[in-house]
Amino acid sequence: MNGGRRSRAGILTPLIALVACSAPADEDRYTAVADMPELMAHVLEPNAQVYWRAVGWIIDSEGEHELRPESEEDWLAVENAAFVVAEAGNLLMMDGRALDDGPWMTMSQALIDIGRRAVEVAEQRDEQAVFDVGAEMYFVCTQCHATYALETLRPSDERAGAPDQGS
Ligand code: HEC
Repeated sequence: MNGGRRSRAGILTPLIALVACSAPADEDRYTAVADMPELMAHVLEPNAQVYWRAVGWIIDSEGEHELRPESEEDWLAVENAAFVVAEAGNLLMMDGRALDDGPWMTMSQALIDIGRRAVEVAEQRDEQAVFDVGAEMYFVCTQCHATYALETLRPSDERAGAPDQGS
């Protein structure tokens, strides 16, 4: 019995070694196109906006209007946006983009998790849940900005460039 186990290990070990040696470094496998501000402005922001604007209320001179997906096409757009936000978490984790191995990865994973929830509730056509998950998504964005992009979190704060901006 022991012998069987050992021989299986004997076959596996060289295979694993081979795979490890032949795997190209991550950076060689793909070509990042957007830098960080571009990824935020062209991928994350517009798609998060689609999600946030899908359900809610707007108030104008004519009163209060409810926003909700009206058609199957509207719902598909909400689902598409949620998929982009979720997958963008993976883009943030790429070598060359990730700013560290700790909190950055945790927050990128949080974006994937909330993006996946966003997809699920859109697929369920659950308006209230789209609204609630949207709020959580917003929190994930601002949490990372609070750590890595203070100017983004408070774009109109005149003290953003001041030495004591952390207070
Ligand atoms: C894992 C960290 C992280 C997460 C999560 C994150 N961001 Fe960012 N974001 C950044 C960093 C870092 C910058 C600053 C980029 C720079 O200026 O170098 C930034 C900047 C931005 C900017 C400004 C881009 C510009 O034009 O300069 C926008 C808009 C933005 N993020 C939107 C979002 C939205 C919307 C979400 C959530 C759906 C989000 N971000 C989630 C890290 C993150």
